[in-house]
Amino acid sequence: MSSKLIESDIESVLFSAEEIEARTRELGARISADYSDARITRDVAGRPPIVVCVLRGALLFMADLARSIPTQMEYDFICVASYGNGTSPGVVRLIKDLEGPIRGRDVLIVEDIVDTGHTLSYLRRGFDARDPASIRVCTLLDKPPRREVEVSVDYVGFTLTSNEFVVGYGMDYRGLYRNLPYIGVLRPEAIDA
Ligand code: PRP
Repeated sequence: MSSKLIESDIESVLFSAEEIEARTRELGARISADYSDARITRDVAGRPPIVVCVLRGALLFMADLARSIPTQMEYDFICVASYGNGTSPGVVRLIKDLEGPIRGRDVLIVEDIVDTGHTLSYLRRGFDARDPASIRVCTLLDKPPRREVEVSVDYVGFTLTSNEFVVGYGMDYRGLYRNLPYIGVLRPEAIDA
């Protein structure tokens, strides 16, 4: 295992672990209140929402968000990969599907970042076809300047107004930096040309 400290590749911290924690607690409280409200929860059987973590990026956010929701919920995982690399922009591939059915259930999709919107658009289409009672989306980061398809997001942690490429707290560059406890910007030297 390489002993290089990943922190040494970070140019600046955009959102500290403390800022993420505080914002996640706020989101958890809001989500909990919204889903406890009978006007919003539409699962006719009164079942709790299913919170869906979109792997792999949303893993850390999901783990902290789940612990910030003090009311009943179930959770499940889906894994998708996007190829926004210029050769096939907007192509999203399903790696691992949900374990359980979502028909008639309130579904909350948890993302680390909404960038072009292709991943979320793909997920919504797929979930809509399974006839859930409702679908909402919570993302830690929203990057509206990069949007290519229109998607609605219900809960946003932080909005990025510039086009910086961010890593950490689940987000990667070439598979690395997901395990940073904060969100930061890479030094130019750490990015391959
Ligand atoms: C990232 C991120 C989102 C998606 C957002 O996932 O986790 O799911 O991209 O980008 P978009 O709005 O342009 O579609 P990625 O496909 O890189 O896989 P990962 O979660 O394993 O990092």
